[in-house]
Amino acid sequence: MNPPSSKPRSSTTSPETTSLAPDEGLCLGKANNSDCDALAALARSAHSHPWSASQYRDSLASGHTCWVLRAADDEVGGREIAACCVVSRLFDEVEILDVAVAPQWRRQGVGGRLLEDIFSQLPEDIARILLEVRASNRPARALYRKLGFSEDGRRKNYYPKPDGSREDALLMSLVL
Ligand SMILES: CC(C)(COP(=O)(O)OP(=O)(O)OC[C@H]1O[C@@H](n2cnc3c(N)ncnc32)[C@H](O)[C@@H]1OP(=O)(O)O)[C@@H](O)C(=O)NCCC(=O)NCCS
Repeated sequence: MNPPSSKPRSSTTSPETTSLAPDEGLCLGKANNSDCDALAALARSAHSHPWSASQYRDSLASGHTCWVLRAADDEVGGREIAACCVVSRLFDEVEILDVAVAPQWRRQGVGGRLLEDIFSQLPEDIARILLEVRASNRPARALYRKLGFSEDGRRKNYYPKPDGSREDALLMSLVL
């Protein structure tokens, strides 16, 4: 997502701060190049065809925003990435390119909260959020439906599967 030129929907915090989502010790922030190895590890735990660290770096270099929820400092001072979401802005639309929650953080409301926190940060001139999801991905489809997305269409045989066959992508959108 390009830097917003207008104010965010939620005026409680600036897009650069990490003060949202304080419960469970998770903080919202933006990833940078030093996070890309950790993002790739998270992707390997979440996707059958994960992005590599260099793909995350290319994504950031192209102007996409990678939002992350970081866990509280551990004993060695690290800040585990519990969840991430890459978004891209084009005119008055935002596309969600990647969403992943680490396995140990799933089914605790983390994915839903990450997306709601991001949506509250979007500039007021964003009219619609778009995404594509594997037809077989029931958890993600349920998450998006719960957030109010509707299914608009289908791309036949869009995604490769681990067994070499292909599956459809569902096109979903949320009008803000
Ligand atoms: C999909 C994913 C992001 C959900 O993250 P999460 O933090 O576990 O989701 P939440 O706990 O916020 O759940 C919110 C809602 O999503 C739905 N949901 C989440 N996981 C689900 C599951 N395993 N089965 C069915 N529904 C599920 C439910 O509607 C849930 O609401 P509820 O808890 O009131 O039932 C996570 O499972 C994940 O990272 N999966 C692998 C990567 C992926 O598929 N990314 C999406 C690509 S488009």
